[in-house]
Amino acid sequence: MAKRKLQDPTLQEKFEELDRKNEEALLGGGKERIEQQHAKGKLTARERIELILDPGSFEELGKFVMHRSKDFGLDKTYILGDGVVTGYGTIHGRLVYIFSQDFTVFGGSLSETHAEKIVKIMDLALKNGAPIIGLNDSGGARIQEGVVSLGGYADIFYRNTLASGVIPQISAIMGPCAGGAVYSPAITDFIFMVENTSFMFVTGPNVVRTVTHEDVTAEVLGGAQTHSTKSGVTHFACANEVECLNQIRRLLSYIPQNCEEDPPSVPYTPSDESRPQLNEIVPANPNHPYDMRDVINGVVDPDSFFEVHRNFAENIVVGFARLGGRSIGIVGNQPASLAGVLDINASVKGARFVRFCDSFNIPLLVFVDVPGFLPGTDQEWNAIITNGAKLLYAFSEATVPRVTVITRKAYGGAYDVMNSKHIGADLNFAWPTAEIAVMGARGAAEIIFKREIAEAPDPEKKLSEKVEEYTRKFANPYRAAHRGYIDEVIYPDQTRIKLLKAYAMLENKVVTLPRKKHGNIPL
Ligand code: HXC
Repeated sequence: MAKRKLQDPTLQEKFEELDRKNEEALLGGGKERIEQQHAKGKLTARERIELILDPGSFEELGKFVMHRSKDFGLDKTYILGDGVVTGYGTIHGRLVYIFSQDFTVFGGSLSETHAEKIVKIMDLALKNGAPIIGLNDSGGARIQEGVVSLGGYADIFYRNTLASGVIPQISAIMGPCAGGAVYSPAITDFIFMVENTSFMFVTGPNVVRTVTHEDVTAEVLGGAQTHSTKSGVTHFACANEVECLNQIRRLLSYIPQNCEEDPPSVPYTPSDESRPQLNEIVPANPNHPYDMRDVINGVVDPDSFFEVHRNFAENIVVGFARLGGRSIGIVGNQPASLAGVLDINASVKGARFVRFCDSFNIPLLVFVDVPGFLPGTDQEWNAIITNGAKLLYAFSEATVPRVTVITRKAYGGAYDVMNSKHIGADLNFAWPTAEIAVMGARGAAEIIFKREIAEAPDPEKKLSEKVEEYTRKFANPYRAAHRGYIDEVIYPDQTRIKLLKAYAMLENKVVTLPRKKHGNIPL
């Protein structure tokens, strides 16, 4: 940046002092530590901010903040900024607040003042109704500071909770995130992790070894792969930091600034909206799988589907997309994984996504092909009852426009749960291949015709006849359509046209729920 030249030498001196301080602050922990950061394949806090925000839009706040500690030699080391870069800027021209922890300064550890800087940004974000992005790269609580650092964390957790459902909160884990530090990201709406250079855990490998005698690396215990596939803690696992920052930019393009706004839309010119390729996706054999993503991509605007939580609970697909240029949130059973059955993880994944969309006025589109809930001791003992209820509860309380398309199976309780009209969906369509029944035809026939089949001279033949009879009667969408539970049975190629009209019709939907402090979702 060009230095200012002034006539008055006293003023010149003051300006030069500012020049020096600015340079010092930009250097963070110093060149050597910046090189160490790069050597690990990581960017610095400032480089990350430059990449994620629109060029030149960043305005830094609190650049000269320093810690107040005097213990353990900290009185000899004051570094401007105190390990976190905070401020605001724009993404796609829209305001965002951001903090980016600087690992080159005390390992990005969180001191009292470091926390105060984050809190200041969070308060501004909440008051001004814009998303907050946290780029985490930290050794946790500043060990030299003790309880004030713990207090700083709690100040952040408290604000995360207050801001939940008011402004979108996005966390990226770009390095270590351990101990209680994990709970701020956990409360936020979306977590991104970078493969091989980030990890999250409540207790690290050393403590694990001591307590449980398990020998595990940081990556296996809490790396991006682990949390995107096994625990579901992270929604996105990115190959590198640049991809991670770009993905956050993309995510923000679907969501509004706050809960009072509608999501952003992009220009859209209507053309031929029929999609003949949709007619061929569901196989004739009801036991054959297909990829629900083919249905989703065939219906929504080209290249607009942005999948969330892709590698976790793959039996349900969730993500954002655009329909006629407008944002929608999609939930779909995935017949290509576990036949699309609902289990604990799928229910929790779906529920969390539905609640995010409902908080931020994003209409929901639900594709149903579900054989029911997954049986077994593992599921029952781990509370499929409580967890399945989360998805039911989330759909039931959602007041955004809600449309369902049943592509094939809608069996049992899962029919009710998957955005049925009975729990408040606005419009429900079914394809001709839909089967809406209490259960699959074979299981049903075996139960209700048990005696008849057993007493028949040829039980197998009798069973086939009864399966055939049940299929004819119930394995279709017309029983439900006769009752009005299905608004229309549609040709798959017409789905996009029907949905464009449906969401236009539902644009001004208003629903008022009973007055309450808050509900009590079965957690
Ligand atoms: C102060 C810290 C620090 C911390 C790291 N540093 N963590 N300083 N407080 N929590 C400093 C190191 O002393 C070192 O300084 C520099 O940062 C870089 O750290 P390294 O260890 O050299 O880096 P690396 O090998 O990459 O290892 C990173 C690490 C490790 C895995 C994060 O530093 C680590 O294990 N740190 C401690 C993690 C921890 O236990 N934190 C407390 C968690 S409990 P010098 O000057 O030597 O280079 C917690 C409670 C929160 O956070 C509760 C909230 C409710």
